[in-house]
Amino acid sequence: MQKLAIGHDQQSFVAASQARGKKVYDHYCEICHGAEGQGDGFNSAMLDPPPRNFADEAFWKRVNDEQLQTVISRGGESVGKSVLMPAWGRTLDPSQITDVIAFLRTVPALAKKAAAAEESEN
Ligand code: HEC
Repeated sequence: MQKLAIGHDQQSFVAASQARGKKVYDHYCEICHGAEGQGDGFNSAMLDPPPRNFADEAFWKRVNDEQLQTVISRGGESVGKSVLMPAWGRTLDPSQITDVIAFLRTVPALAKKAAAAEESEN
């Protein structure tokens, strides 16, 4: 029983972090990375290379949380990527960056769900 209660607490802890992260994302990241995180935001047509598509599972195999913390807080240039990926370390505090990463990790599952829903409509 005790164990179950702890499991549940952890789950709601993660869910709360994801929900806060989604707010951060919608405010600061969506304009480039897209409403669903698929790299197709309003600005994306002007960006070369394009913003990362977070639905891409290969991306998640390549990165860990520490690398994501670095690129998000210090910007693309700090890791040899595009200068068009801004540095957020002065705008977001470390816990907000942790939250936004928690949200980004939900994007592949959300994309799959959306694709399945679309298919069942046709
Ligand atoms: C002005 C447009 C823009 C905004 C706003 C933006 N990004 Fe990006 N982001 C980019 C571009 C462009 C890339 C691709 C860089 C590359 O591949 O060289 C990128 C790449 C990334 C990557 C992948 C780095 C990698 O290892 O491939 C992460 C993670 C990321 N962005 C997170 C965020 C988060 C979180 C926010 C909001 C806090 C955000 N971005 C806001 C343009 C943007």
